[in-house]
Amino acid sequence: MASAPRQESPEVLARIYRLFRDYFDKAEKKRRWSLKEDVPWNACNPNLDRRIADVVETFCVVELYLPDYLSKLIPQVRTNRGRAWMLANWGYEECKHSMAFGDWLERSGHRSDEQLADMEAMTFSHEWQLPYDNALGMVIYTMFQERATWLTYQNLRAIVGNDDPALSRVLQLISIDECAHYDFFKRLVQIYLEDDRDATLEQMRVVANTFKMPALHMLADSALRMNEIKTMRILDEDLFISKVYEPILADIDVSKKELRRRQSSREIVVAACELGQPKI
Ligand SMILES: [Fe+2]
Ligand SMILES: [Fe+2]
Repeated sequence: MASAPRQESPEVLARIYRLFRDYFDKAEKKRRWSLKEDVPWNACNPNLDRRIADVVETFCVVELYLPDYLSKLIPQVRTNRGRAWMLANWGYEECKHSMAFGDWLERSGHRSDEQLADMEAMTFSHEWQLPYDNALGMVIYTMFQERATWLTYQNLRAIVGNDDPALSRVLQLISIDECAHYDFFKRLVQIYLEDDRDATLEQMRVVANTFKMPALHMLADSALRMNEIKTMRILDEDLFISKVYEPILADIDVSKKELRRRQSSREIVVAACELGQPKI
């Protein structure tokens, strides 16, 4: 693992805090939504393809690891107010995602109370660990993960179509949140690139080579679930390269050549192929 980058200067900390305030103000004005009021819950479809319900359950579990995400990420950034406050706000938004997926699974009849309780107990019996041991690596990881998650929900929503207006609305609302998260973390990475391009690119090479979606590998039947996601073309190696990796590089104005100084394209494909693969 690469060495930890240096501490941010007061100027960089001030820029990050301003970035957070802009994000927060916009979210308060334009993006708050109600789990109770904004989803047509009476339009759930109990006959929807069960594979879609399986995928919703998989991502409900990924979102349920929120206590681990927050409890491990906040200590990395406790002296960086913009990032710490962002995590508090991000946690509020993310907690709605697992609740919305759980509510849909129950109201649609695809899962019973007992099944959801078992799913929750199984999730909390494993502890998610930080994939990178420094705050710069984690912000780059989060940028990749938020874009991959946004893409996942967009693709799942396209498959649902008009077959379940409640799930379609849930996926739309959550996708908008994930897109805003990606935009924030991308801007944060841009600040770090301007501040220390070499250290940021070094971390980016590490993350691009080893990226895995969070927590997917921790599920007992992760191989099966990952296979379902790939077969339905919700997220696979090609989509990761063309819709996550390449657009991110374009957005942050990093050329492949610059990033590949120590990374071959083969390594990138290997990393994408390992999306969600079990660690053990
Ligand atoms: Fe989420
Ligand atoms: Fe998110």
